[in-house]
Amino acid sequence: MTTQKRVLITSALPYINGIKHLGNLAGSMLPADVYARFQRSRGRETLYICATDEHGTPAELAAIEENLPVAEYCTKWWAIQKKLGEGFGLSFDYFGRSSSIQNRELTQHFAKTLWERGHIEERTTRQVYSKADGRFLPDRYVIGTCPHCGYDRARGDQCENCTRVLDPADLIQPRSALSGSTDIELRDSKHLFLQQAKFSDELRKWIGTRQEWSPLVTSIALKWLDEGLQDRGITRDLAWGVPVNAETWGPNPDGKRPDVEGLKGKVFYVWFDAPIEYIGSTKEWADSAPAGTNSRDWKSWWVGDDAQKNVRYVEFMGKDNVPFHTVGFPVTILGSGEKWKLVDQIKGFNWLNYYGGKFSTSQKRGIFMDAALEILPPDFWRWYLTANAPESADSSFTWQHFADTVNKDLADVLGNFINRTLKFTEGKFGAQVPEGGKPGPKETKLADELERRFGIYTVFLEEIQLRKAAQELRAIWVLGNEYLADAAPWTTIRTDKDAAAVSVRVAINLIRLFAILSAPVIPFASEAMAKALGLDIKTLHWPKGKIADEMAVLKPGHAFTIPPVLFAKIAPEQIAAWEERFGGAGP
Ligand code: 2FM
Ligand code: ZN
Repeated sequence: MTTQKRVLITSALPYINGIKHLGNLAGSMLPADVYARFQRSRGRETLYICATDEHGTPAELAAIEENLPVAEYCTKWWAIQKKLGEGFGLSFDYFGRSSSIQNRELTQHFAKTLWERGHIEERTTRQVYSKADGRFLPDRYVIGTCPHCGYDRARGDQCENCTRVLDPADLIQPRSALSGSTDIELRDSKHLFLQQAKFSDELRKWIGTRQEWSPLVTSIALKWLDEGLQDRGITRDLAWGVPVNAETWGPNPDGKRPDVEGLKGKVFYVWFDAPIEYIGSTKEWADSAPAGTNSRDWKSWWVGDDAQKNVRYVEFMGKDNVPFHTVGFPVTILGSGEKWKLVDQIKGFNWLNYYGGKFSTSQKRGIFMDAALEILPPDFWRWYLTANAPESADSSFTWQHFADTVNKDLADVLGNFINRTLKFTEGKFGAQVPEGGKPGPKETKLADELERRFGIYTVFLEEIQLRKAAQELRAIWVLGNEYLADAAPWTTIRTDKDAAAVSVRVAINLIRLFAILSAPVIPFASEAMAKALGLDIKTLHWPKGKIADEMAVLKPGHAFTIPPVLFAKIAPEQIAAWEERFGGAGP
């Protein structure tokens, strides 16, 4: 894809409840960030949007556990998540909240439009009611045995084990997540259903045009269609959420008005309003523009002919989210009849496992974003999680594998190259790019190899093939080391100072080039590399011309400093201590 379009990027919105684990990070926010940074570096107008997913039962249940009113709980955890995102260098243009006014208005707008166009119907449904709790128990308020796979802790909305979407009434041996009570019954309750089924053909046709989707994404989407698309309940008997505003709705095409009384006090289902928050958060971004600026035109990214033509929209998510983005959200958009942007590319991920099992928020299993940053710099994680992205299959984290990867790639290959280049130059020529000599065959060979690998690397990033991109980036760093080993300035300096000067001049220029090429993946190290060369990484961009030219940007006399150790090696004792602390080594 070498389109010149503006690039709109969203990563799946993290649930508000608690700190996200590295599996969440690896399967949505981090790869989206790598892609956003790459696109910006290429000079494309890019907007990377995220937010917390604040409605629904996960938030309510977690607030109860923390003994906080749910709105307060969300404000607190939004701030924590935002800060952690910054700690990892996630370069969101905006990190919004699905409980924002903007999202409420947009969600209500979509619901009203869908009703008036005849795509929402009312049904009286049988809902799980807990006598002990004196309330209905939607979604995660019920726990029981999955009717499909037999997993005995399936939640009412989705089985964590087989990923099937469930209805609370489907669960075998249901019990209340609030009180544990099994004294529950089914009661009538009026609800709204989005008529997804009638969009089957349109969705199938649309999915058929999405050639660039991976088999993972396409197969999940088609599985849903092949199994027969179900209409989906989009309201819940909850207090926290976007209120159903049926009193503002006109008649549907049959002249029927909604049952305002029957729908009173209900809210929209979290999976109805959450994807709309991609748009909502973009509007939050526009509304929060500093006074006097009006450059943030949220509509131009999302709606109208201009957005359809000139925006390429890319979504990042774990595989459990795929159905909601290939069916649910597209039906909202298609059904509205308005010119909202449908997704172009969906990058879906498998699971990152922790010692063969799943990372789990509920079971506090694995490494969480706060602990990760507490023990190591963000780039260590960013590198490992990109190089081992769970793209074509699940991937498994172990501390040993993690330490081997970062020690080898970051410390031995990249760190070592920077360090020996700058230290040697400083020692022999002073802290500046030396003059003398002329590039020869070694440099031509290096330029050719770099040119080839740079091209491949760029294509992999463009295609969002992250593992392959990381491999290629590593191979580019290796070229630097191989060149130095071959040119051996520490030997030539004894007999031919000019030859040594050429080698280190090229090597210092490679540090600049490596800073640019590495920035999407390890932005903090790239910034430090640029800074050591007296450069500001923000002013450096993806090469547009010949790589040979990039090898001679910094001219003789250009000063540098030796950066602090960029990648300290992880020691065996640290691995042992972390295995102990995080439970990797077993009982
Ligand atoms: O699975 C999750 O973590 C959800 N909170 C993702 C929501 S994505 C979007 F639709 F908001
Ligand atoms: Zn199941």
